[in-house]
Amino acid sequence: MKKALITGANKSIGFETARLLLQQGFYVYIGSRTAENGEKAVAQLKADGLENAAYVLLDVTDSDSVTAARKTLGEKTDTLDVLINNAGISGGMPQSALDATIDQFKEVYDTNVFGVVRVTQAFIDLLKNSPEPRIVNVSSSVGSLTLNSDPTWFAYDLNASVYNSSKTALNMYTVKLAYELRNTAFRVNAVDPGYVATDFNNHQGHGTVQQAANRVSKYALIGADGPTGGYFSEENNPETWEIPW
Ligand SMILES: NC(=O)c1ccc[n+]([C@@H]2O[C@H](COP(=O)([O-])OP(=O)(O)OC[C@H]3O[C@@H](n4cnc5c(N)ncnc54)[C@H](OP(=O)(O)O)[C@@H]3O)[C@@H](O)[C@H]2O)c1
Repeated sequence: MKKALITGANKSIGFETARLLLQQGFYVYIGSRTAENGEKAVAQLKADGLENAAYVLLDVTDSDSVTAARKTLGEKTDTLDVLINNAGISGGMPQSALDATIDQFKEVYDTNVFGVVRVTQAFIDLLKNSPEPRIVNVSSSVGSLTLNSDPTWFAYDLNASVYNSSKTALNMYTVKLAYELRNTAFRVNAVDPGYVATDFNNHQGHGTVQQAANRVSKYALIGADGPTGGYFSEENNPETWEIPW
């Protein structure tokens, strides 16, 4: 049975992605910052007939927590087939490029960028034991430098210098990670789940978490001939999903 770890999977996009992978026959480790939320998520999945889930305590901003999660998982499995770096925060809006504080940048980067680095580095040994390892970094189209430079783009005026730049940094980390893992069975991609209604945006998003989970899990499930080092958004390119960096 293939195994997946999803950070921030106790609710919203991460939770629905867990459900989809469970339906595909995976065993899924639900990353959760609290035992209470982790237990609740697993109980919900089990109530829906999806038994192969367990939660793992994991705060991506806390190196000790990441180390402990790696130890816990290592006691249960020596292989991880899929890592989905989903945990993310917006940092609150607006975020003017002139007025956003360094503390705001640090807080958002600690989760959206450094958190991904911490978790990826901690679990890479387990992923290397998989014959078909997949890493999906949940990014956003608002991390695209090209789209943000286009006055006709729908999110051109979004006042989010902190969040947007954190996803741009995540994109570059994705490219460099894919580069280091080139000529291996790894497939590493950045995926925009789309603007969907969750706590993240006070449920202002127009899409559903199910749509987002479909988009994210697509790149967790790609075959050996699938892309690596790519950046995908169905919302911005319904045909090939590929979007400019
Ligand atoms: N929703 C959208 O429209 C949208 C659009 C583009 C990209 N995204 C991206 O999609 C991802 C998921 O977003 P969402 O809409 O599902 O957000 P959400 O509803 O706010 O859920 C975020 C999840 O991440 C967890 N999390 C936050 N900080 C964490 C940390 N330090 N360590 C571990 N887990 C942490 C949260 O845990 P708690 O429950 O403990 O807070 C929660 O499980 C994010 O990376 C976001 O940037 C979302």
